[in-house]
Amino acid sequence: MEEWLPDSWRLKPAAHLPEYDDAALLKRVEQKLHKYPPLVFAEESMRLKKSLGEVANGRAFLLQGGDCAESFEDFGANNIRDMFRILLQMAVVLMYGAARPVVKVGRMAGQFAKPRSSAFETINGVTLPSYKGDNINGIEFTPESRAAQPERMLQAYHHASATLNLLRAFSQGGFADLNKVQEWNLGFVANSLQGERYRRFSERISETLDFMTACGISASTVPVVRETPFYTSHEALLLPFEEALTRVDSSTGDWYDCSAHMLWIGERTRDPDGAHVEFARGVSNPLGVKVGPNVQTDDLLRLCDILNPLNEAGRLTLIIRMGRHKVAEKLPPLIRAVEREGYQVVWSCDPMHANTQVASNGYKTRDFNAILEEVKNFFAVHEAEGTYAGGLHFEMTGQDVTECVGGAQAITEETLGQRYSTLCDPRLNANQSLELAFLVAEMLKRKNA
Ligand code: PEP
Ligand code: CO
Repeated sequence: MEEWLPDSWRLKPAAHLPEYDDAALLKRVEQKLHKYPPLVFAEESMRLKKSLGEVANGRAFLLQGGDCAESFEDFGANNIRDMFRILLQMAVVLMYGAARPVVKVGRMAGQFAKPRSSAFETINGVTLPSYKGDNINGIEFTPESRAAQPERMLQAYHHASATLNLLRAFSQGGFADLNKVQEWNLGFVANSLQGERYRRFSERISETLDFMTACGISASTVPVVRETPFYTSHEALLLPFEEALTRVDSSTGDWYDCSAHMLWIGERTRDPDGAHVEFARGVSNPLGVKVGPNVQTDDLLRLCDILNPLNEAGRLTLIIRMGRHKVAEKLPPLIRAVEREGYQVVWSCDPMHANTQVASNGYKTRDFNAILEEVKNFFAVHEAEGTYAGGLHFEMTGQDVTECVGGAQAITEETLGQRYSTLCDPRLNANQSLELAFLVAEMLKRKNA
């Protein structure tokens, strides 16, 4: 294997990276970021890798979710709290169904850079670069805003840092205490069908906790009742940003990308010979790779080899996003090839990205039923192949948005416009997320029965 350095990706073809007009400013920003403190600590990434190793071996389940694109504009305590809370609710529901620990990973605190299917956007005859995430440019349709601005990387760093600070406080400071399982249901969710279902469910958990306390197992004796590990992740798209936050861990001598605990490579940048794979192979964080329906088996096997040469369980998560129908046909041969070669991977299902459609009124949306069907098909394929369906990857929000159609709330194409606020892809709202968690938990429970 060739020598690796944090900047060796610069010698490879890089898709989806922005062009910056002011190279000197870009350099200054990179140098500044390079001196900033790491956002996460290598030891935390190691711990996540270990937990994902448990997932790879069928002893735990992965829940990864959050915004398609986080935004500077929507940044604030309430949004962070609501996202964290809905992820906790989903995790506890899934944990109950799977009867296994749930590893919680947010698409949070750094999900600011987006690949786009078209590099340019035309409105009323004016063509400008597409919006690529707040780490790169602005959503406003003006030449100034759509130009790639290096200083945005500094802003992204500070937003990520403050988000992480609150997430750490929530996960360790008592908010995530299992004894508060009923309180997580506050807000608009509580008055909904899913909220009612969650209330009944959390009463059962509370009863169990009372029983455990009587047995001597409680928040004061067992930290896992009081705290929950919560990890961050984002797509490692904007390589100058990722490179600047890559540091050597002094205790092991290994490189870590300290911008997040876990990084993933997107469907559009997973060329085994490209810059994104080159960057990712050298950092020791747990990695994800998005795998769409047109993947070549040889490429997938090469990715397993390049990204996980030591075949460590937990290092590599394959995030399958093929679409509700294609997953049944395209996934089995990939599973067989990966199994035949003996690669240890986590198989996770992203039922969002290949189920995107445009509604008749122009809104980009996803159908709740299509999402559920892709999850079902993903589980069925693994059942048939004798492999472990280990995780879910969702685009969701703790807010009451109307971006995906369907679900018990019965959002329709006509009502999409009521509260449609995503900067990029349509997200499940809090109710839909919880509803999906209950449906998946039932599937997991039946499977374990
Ligand atoms: C995403 O996760 O937001 C994304 C762009 O996904 P994919 O790379 O699978 O298209
Ligand atoms: Co997306």
